[in-house]
Formats: sequence, structure tokens, C-alpha cells
Amino acid sequence: MLEKVYAAAFLGVDATLITIEVNIDKGIGYHLVGLPDNAVKESNFRIHAALKNNQLHFPGKKITINMAPADMRKEGTAYDLSLAVGILAASNQVNSQKLKEYIIMGELSLDGSLQPLKGVLPIAIEAKKQGFKGIILPTKNAKEAALIDDFEVYGLENLSDVIDFLDDNKKFTPLIFDTQKYLNEIDDKFSFDFMDVKGQESVKRALEIAASGGHNILLIGPPGSGKTMLAKRLPSILPSMSLNEAIETTKIHSVAGNTKNKEGLILERPFRSPHHTVSDVALVGGGQYPQPGEISLAHNGVLFLDELPEFKRSVLEVMRQPLEDREVTISRAKFTITYPSSFMLIASMNPSPSGDFMNDQNKIQSSSLEVKKYLNKISGPLLDRIDLHIEVNPVPFDKLSNEIPAETSKSIKLRVQKARDLQTKRFDEYNIHYNAQMDVKHIKKYCKLNQDTKALLKKAMESLNLSARAYDRILKVSRTIADLEASQNIESHHIAEAIQYRSLDREHWV
Ligand SMILES: Nc1ncnc2c1ncn2[C@@H]1O[C@H](COP(=O)(O)OP(=O)(O)OP(=O)(O)O)[C@@H](O)[C@H]1O
Ligand SMILES: [Mg+2]
Repeated sequence: MLEKVYAAAFLGVDATLITIEVNIDKGIGYHLVGLPDNAVKESNFRIHAALKNNQLHFPGKKITINMAPADMRKEGTAYDLSLAVGILAASNQVNSQKLKEYIIMGELSLDGSLQPLKGVLPIAIEAKKQGFKGIILPTKNAKEAALIDDFEVYGLENLSDVIDFLDDNKKFTPLIFDTQKYLNEIDDKFSFDFMDVKGQESVKRALEIAASGGHNILLIGPPGSGKTMLAKRLPSILPSMSLNEAIETTKIHSVAGNTKNKEGLILERPFRSPHHTVSDVALVGGGQYPQPGEISLAHNGVLFLDELPEFKRSVLEVMRQPLEDREVTISRAKFTITYPSSFMLIASMNPSPSGDFMNDQNKIQSSSLEVKKYLNKISGPLLDRIDLHIEVNPVPFDKLSNEIPAETSKSIKLRVQKARDLQTKRFDEYNIHYNAQMDVKHIKKYCKLNQDTKALLKKAMESLNLSARAYDRILKVSRTIADLEASQNIESHHIAEAIQYRSLDREHWV
């Protein structure tokens, strides 16, 4: 007898429907075809045990299973349940009526209990698109799938529950998740809040500007000055994610297997901080079974490269294209996968290999040649994409011991949001959303200077010996500073402030 069960596989962050045909005939043997990998092939042993332990039997006949489309590789353990149900239906041990209405997936333990799988959100999205009524999954995955509206999600504990469901022996209620209500209920409580950072007003100001315009930023300061502490708090002042952004981000974390056992939707902007020994593949994604890398896990959030000059140059090089395109493409002989990777970059470094500022009179330990070499490691293409560089000095003791709490992230975020709203309106007709994304054409249109401001910028560029590449960056950052004041025009004081954020372009550095 032939029966069909439906499951799904994902490529990149999107899922594809997989049809599992199970045919049981006279004879003996077990044939599983349709490009299954080893984990799928091994399912046979798990299914055997799970059936036996639930007083069901594995038919001693000729079982042929085809997983279609046959040219797509099926990976992992998530098909155990689909295959088991197919075998049970084809041997008349379970009613097959409902099989065409639901996607059925999950890993089986030997006792028949269901273990969570990854990629549930893309699978549920595809199932809904294909017209399925719902999905049957391990309990721990149910919340994530329930993010899809008008779609029945049954999170079940074990194989015998699945059989009771299919045979209508018991009544199960689908999990309903009110996404809108959930979104409305979040208040801005952050794991890391700027309230905890004493002093550092000027650095906080620079981070507020960076967040407002989506500018990449580099913090330069000696060990212990608080660079890591400050960077970790950047996501807390970025505008809240829209539902769409939250779903996009959750999809990526879902296929990476980070959302198993967790609440459904990722609502806090991600903060990823790969170690400087990270490999190319771990940073940008890829591998034999392609996985999203750190830059995609940071999608809609922040990527923090702590100790930037310690990263291998080749690793930083592979990041260039995705930084520009805001997505990364991985090509294989048979397919191409695209992972989104739109993130804000924040990097940190010590001012010299010995850790101190060169102008720190007591502690000049690195020769200027060493310093040059150190800075050279990060110069070039990556540095070209960083709009603000700022110096971070350690906070003096009396400020550190000050008990008065600093301004909360929530209150900074309100100003950031206002500045972002202006930009959204401004770029309505373009495919960009914030000032950092402006190209030459936009800069010409939206960063017009009057005679006085132009003269000021010219003078500053000459006297500070700023490089040409600093010019556009200064204009963009000035635009954001003006937006924070809701000022239509870029005024002299906006330019003057923006110039301060180009530490590395000044002569004493290089
Ligand atoms: N402004 C500050 N307010 C409160 N605590 C601070 C401040 N600056 C530093 N600290 C304290 O000092 C610790 C060290 O700071 P942090 O690790 O962020 O420094 P860093 O600049 O990243 O140093 P390194 O270069 O060694 O990585 C923080 O965990 C925090 O406890
Ligand atoms: Mg640090």
C-alpha cells in the first residue's frame, strides 16, 4: 500500500516542501531513496525501536520510501517522525485521512518521545504558503511555529500522541500565539543598559549618533576603558524591531538551530561578538552543509569585532562584500544560498600594540613604526566603511564611584527613534532607510552646505590634514547630527562635531 506524508527541508532561510512516499509490498527489505544523508538513513534504527516501545510493529515486508524532490539533499534527524508515520499509515496501523493536511516532523528518541528540530519558522511559513492546514511538531518547537497566523500548530510529546491525533482518539488544541499582543507587551528592558555606564558622555553621544544614522563605529582606547561595556549596550538604543524584522532575524537563528527550546520570536536586536580567531566560514557562513555565519546571525542587529587588529586580514576581507550588499551569497555546484546580513558594525581596538595612546606622556612603549604596522592591519577597505572613530579614555575614579545613575537606554532610544523617523520619510522613494546608506547621489541631494559651512569644512580638512575619504563620511554624520536636532539644514556646529569623529584620519595616527 502507498501513502504520502509531507515534511520540509530548508535551503538558506527558506523551506521547500518534501513529499515522502512510503510503499509496502510483499517481500522483504528496506529501501530509502531520494538523496538522504547518513542521519536520515540511520532513522531506520530509531524508528524500529520507537515503534516497538510503543506496542506498534515495524512491518517485516518490502518497504520502499522515496523522498521527493529527489535532487535535493535531505539532512538530519527531523524526518524520523515523518517516516515513522508513513510506515504506520502504509501498514494500516494509523488512519491516513489527515496526512495531506499537515506537515509532520520531529526527531524520535528510542522510547518514541519527540525531540526538537531546527528551521521550524521557515518550514511553517512554507507550509502555510502551500495551503496546509497546520503542522505537527515536538512540543518545544510549537511556539516558534505558532508565530504564523491562521495556522494550526500542534506541539506533541511523543509518537503515541501523534497516533492519537491522527486517529482522533483524543482532542488536542492547537497552540495560539497572539503576536501583536506579545509585541505590544514588551517594554524596553535590556540585558545591558547605558544606565550602568558612568561618565563617558562624549562616547555615549557618538554611539547615539551612530545608532541614529546606522553608522559603523570604531572605539579606540586602552584596556579597561570600557570599550566592550559600551559596545554591548548599542543594541539597547537602536529602534525596536518591526514584526517583519523580528521574523527575518528569527528565521536565520531558527535555521542555525539557536531557537530550539526557546520562546518563539526574537525581539531584541541581536548582538554578536565573534572572537578574533573566528574562521572565514564561521564569520560569513558556508560550510559543507551551509550554515549562516556571524554576520547573518547579527542581521538587524549589531556585529562587534573586539580587538579589530587581531582579526586575520583575510577574514576581514571576506566581510567587505556583505557589508556593502547587506547579504551574503554562498555558491555550490548545485545551488546558491543567500543569507541576509544587514547589521551595524562596531569595532574596538587599542591605540597601539602596547595598549596606550601615543600621546600618553608617561607610557610611550611602542615605537611609531610598530604603531604604524598595527594600524595598517585594519586600514583600507574595512576602515573605509566606518563612519565614526572615537577615542575612549578611562573614567576617573570619582566618576566611577558616583552613585547617581546615568541616563537610561530607553530615554536615549526615544531620540534615536525620532531621528530615524525623519530618515525613513526622507528616503521614502529610495531603497535605503538611514543616512549611513547614502551614496554620492543622495549625499549631493541631502547634505547641501551653505557658503559658511563649506568654508569651515574646507579649513578643518586642511588644518587637520583630513583625507579625502573623510569628506563624505563627515557629511553623512553631519546629516545625522542635524537630524537629531530635527534641523533641515546642516549647520556649522553639526559639521564641527562630525569632524571630531575622524580620529584615525588625523595626522598623528598615520
Ligand atoms: N564608564 C564606566 N562605568 C562603569 N564601569 C566601567 C566603566 N568603564 C569601565 N568600567 C568597568 O571596567 C570593566 C572593564 O571594561 P571593559 O572590559 O569594557 O574595557 P575594555 O576597554 O573593553 O578593555 P580591554 O581593552 O581590556 O578589552 C567593565 O566591566 C566595568 O566593570
Ligand atoms: Mg574589551
